[in-house]
Amino acid sequence: MNDSSTPGARRILVLGGTGTIGRATVAALVGRGHEVICIARPKAGSGGKLTQEKTARLLQGAEVRFGDVTDPAFLAEQVFHDQQFHAVVSCLASRTGEPQDAWAIDYQAHMDVLSLAKEAGVTQMVLLSAICVQKPRLVFQHAKLAFEKALIESGLTYSIVRPTAYFKSLAGQVARVKQGKPFFLFGDGKLTACKPISDADLAEYLADCLQDVSLQNKILPIGGPGPAITPLEQGEYLFSLLGRTPRFKSVPASFLSGVATFLDWVAKIAPPLAAKAELARIGHYYATESMLVLDTETGLYDADATPETGTDTLFEYCRRLIDGSETADRVDYDLF
Ligand SMILES: NC(=O)c1ccc[n+]([C@@H]2O[C@H](COP(=O)([O-])OP(=O)(O)OC[C@H]3O[C@@H](n4cnc5c(N)ncnc54)[C@H](OP(=O)(O)O)[C@@H]3O)[C@@H](O)[C@H]2O)c1
Repeated sequence: MNDSSTPGARRILVLGGTGTIGRATVAALVGRGHEVICIARPKAGSGGKLTQEKTARLLQGAEVRFGDVTDPAFLAEQVFHDQQFHAVVSCLASRTGEPQDAWAIDYQAHMDVLSLAKEAGVTQMVLLSAICVQKPRLVFQHAKLAFEKALIESGLTYSIVRPTAYFKSLAGQVARVKQGKPFFLFGDGKLTACKPISDADLAEYLADCLQDVSLQNKILPIGGPGPAITPLEQGEYLFSLLGRTPRFKSVPASFLSGVATFLDWVAKIAPPLAAKAELARIGHYYATESMLVLDTETGLYDADATPETGTDTLFEYCRRLIDGSETADRVDYDLF
């Protein structure tokens, strides 16, 4: 079953390989000698900007099967028909978090793959989820939780990885601050904290799950190297890097909940706006909830209880963005 001569190498089906964490994960898996097969849309990437050629280049070292992951017939006839996989690694997720898309992707597409994988004798799955599902308030969180439950009950060896915040979600203000604009905050900038994790560090952790039994049959909250930082600290650090006096622009977090309430009300006569109301709720959630392990007894977020992995820090990443040694892919600054 395994063509590779690397010890421990396996044949892995990757979902969501064209996303931020998916790209890094494909690179990590290929780097470890695994045989990697990815499912990708013919027009992939944020806004469908990646052609098949670009996707193939992006996922170098992996075989790409182009098609629709939401189509069970494609999965059965073009993916599982001629291949036996040892494991599925999924970084697949709705790009918008809008309710219909979240249920179609985070839940249903995963359910279809799980069912076919089981039938085909796959024994292991590594799922990229999100730490925020520990306090579910949003539709996409419920969709993710529903699939997490199905995976746990499936009988497959599973690793459900729930990371904290990604660099791309936090570094979106570097360019505006560099241009002399103020750093944007909700409230006093201390409403939330997180231990940011880099794409590469998270990818290595996902790859570890395939081989490290201590990471299997578990739900794994995971952050990057500590300490936990607040948005205010991020802003202060950015200004110190630039040698400028800190300038902040603050908006009350209640603004976003007000927008959601207003859009819910307007959606009664214009139903498409219901999805936009959910996006405002997502914004409010991230403005007010920390991406750290939640202590269910106290109801408080606990930085010390949030496991860490890797070495790359958000501060170092910001330093690289500012000195130009790294460029952010602006196209990928999605909401979450
Ligand atoms: N951002 C954060 O700070 C953060 C923190 C913790 C956890 N998370 C979670 O991490 C996960 C992945 O994040 P990410 O930033 O790597 O995601 P991403 O960049 O948005 O990538 C999503 C992947 O899913 C695929 N996909 C989405 N909709 C699809 C559809 N209809 N059909 C086929 N493929 C589809 C995308 O393919 P295309 O390229 O074709 O669109 C892409 O490969 C999400 O579950 C998110 O909730 C995020």
